[in-house]
Amino acid sequence: MYIPLLVLHSLLRWLVLLAGLVALVRALTGVFGPRPWTPTDDRASRLFAISLDLQVAIGLVLYGLLSPVARGAFEDLGAAMRNPTLRFFAVEHVLLMLAALALVHVGRVRVGRARHDSARQRQAAIFFGIALVLVIVGIPWPWMPEARPLFPFR
Ligand code: HEM
Repeated sequence: MYIPLLVLHSLLRWLVLLAGLVALVRALTGVFGPRPWTPTDDRASRLFAISLDLQVAIGLVLYGLLSPVARGAFEDLGAAMRNPTLRFFAVEHVLLMLAALALVHVGRVRVGRARHDSARQRQAAIFFGIALVLVIVGIPWPWMPEARPLFPFR
């Protein structure tokens, strides 16, 4: 179960990034257009939220149950905090992604409550933009010390 979920977690990142990029670009073109908030904007933001929900759910299962990396970190948290790779997966990765998740959901609520299309587009651009940056910063890219491959089957 560990390997299939890790592979899925690795692949799903691309859907999250693509959905986030589409939602952000739509919001930015809406702000600078300017252009009304449309059902397609809503669908794009929903896909970003759902893909991130799913990714976070898989990540939490890896984190709490299956990942030997997380288990190794929990066994000696003090030592893990001095090891950049263990600390990244035990703390930084999780906190950044949970913050991104909260921003996307708060952003969708604020879009829903906004009174005008211009405010909807602005809220979407701010919240989805910051969330996407956090997701990008939180991914263990191959060029980082905690390097992981771009695709699971290299
Ligand atoms: C609270 C949310 C999350 C948790 C708890 C979590 C947890 C984890 C854990 C424990 C690992 C290491 C697994 C191992 O090697 O044993 C991991 C790897 C990874 N995570 Fe997450 N994750 C979360 C969200 C995300 C999100 C939102 C993304 C991207 C959109 C992401 C992308 C990745 C990638 C690319 C890897 C490396 C996969 C590989 O080794 O091929 N994670 N995550």
